[in-house]
Amino acid sequence: MSHEQQLAQPRLDMLGAYPFERLKALFADATPNPELTPIDAGAGEPRLPLPDFVAGALSESLDGFSKYPATRGNAELRQAIAAWLMRRFSLAHVDSDSQVLTANGTREALFAIAHALVNPDAAIKPYVLMPNPMYQIYLGAALTAGAEACFMPCTAATDFEPDLAAVTDDVWANTALVYVCSPSNPTGWIADRAWLTRLIELADKHNFYIISDECYSEIYWQQRPVGLLEVAEQLGRTDFARCLVMNSLSKRSALPGMRSGLIAGDAGLISRFTKLRSYTGPATPLPLQHVAARAWADETHVAEHLSVYRSSLKAFFDAYGEGAPPAGSFFVWLPVADGEAFARAAYEQQAVTVLPGAYLSANASDGSNPGTGFVRAALVDGPDKAAELARRLRAVQLN
Ligand SMILES: Cc1ncc(COP(=O)(O)O)c(C=O)c1O
Repeated sequence: MSHEQQLAQPRLDMLGAYPFERLKALFADATPNPELTPIDAGAGEPRLPLPDFVAGALSESLDGFSKYPATRGNAELRQAIAAWLMRRFSLAHVDSDSQVLTANGTREALFAIAHALVNPDAAIKPYVLMPNPMYQIYLGAALTAGAEACFMPCTAATDFEPDLAAVTDDVWANTALVYVCSPSNPTGWIADRAWLTRLIELADKHNFYIISDECYSEIYWQQRPVGLLEVAEQLGRTDFARCLVMNSLSKRSALPGMRSGLIAGDAGLISRFTKLRSYTGPATPLPLQHVAARAWADETHVAEHLSVYRSSLKAFFDAYGEGAPPAGSFFVWLPVADGEAFARAAYEQQAVTVLPGAYLSANASDGSNPGTGFVRAALVDGPDKAAELARRLRAVQLN
């Protein structure tokens, strides 16, 4: 081991390559069919036109670039976020001073929160629970924060619901936090009230925190997703004790490049997280905060986006001729014989990029991996391309 390796943070070595790096390696010696125009359904990056208020809101706030932004976000944005949460989830009150923080996109916040809430020096390594398959940041956060990752399998057998019953009492007793992803990337599952209620009851019983990643809350097929804060309030927890939600303008407003998101819930957790963030410094530039405040206040563009996603999902499944749209998100979690082999064949035969499911999941303790027999396709290019994507995926042949 080199001197540098001895000095460097060893927990980083527990992380595997990020899914898109693995995809690059998988395609390294593959050539996409040159007769077809490539379709990239690999990344979950919305590709919709910029909402029309963005340019104006940015230009009227440019002088903000000459000031340092505060870590917590400015009052205008925190108030717009609190107002959106109250409207969207019918909440009686969200205090924009003590219960809301801004984030530079939720990815960094989902990662950093584990570092605020896990005790790496505990006598027994605490558990961080997460769905499997999962948004990979949860796993990276858990491992680098010094926790033991514990997976809740999400399989077709439970309609992709993370199986709370699969978690033993020993694990619950030593759990620091649980990540929820609803609507789920990649499976499209949506948490219902009963599931969230059960999780809150477990959090009370076993003394852990719930981090609910609700980035896809505005993208759904039929039933508008419920949120964690909504369920918490209905249980009488107006202080949202133990609960934090994260949401993002990346998916809701198709502004992934703006890097703007929200964190909201339990004031004690917000305060603790603010302390960490005042050192790590992820403050959003003031002009972008102004644009973000406008985005949270506007529902017109969100409704327009939703109608494009629904048309794309319908076009995909009409053309594919099998399966049904996910309850939420713009992802298709497609069962195939072998995700890696299928993704490579789709690239070579049909010039299509999809992500092998195993790159979004982890091996369970028995060695099985719930993502192996799937690929994930993101429907982010509108209905015509979604239909074309479905036809091409249908035509993929595995030897
Ligand atoms: C489930 C989930 N959570 C969070 C994020 C992070 O989004 P952002 O950092 O753009 O808010 C993504 C992005 O793809 C995601 O799929």
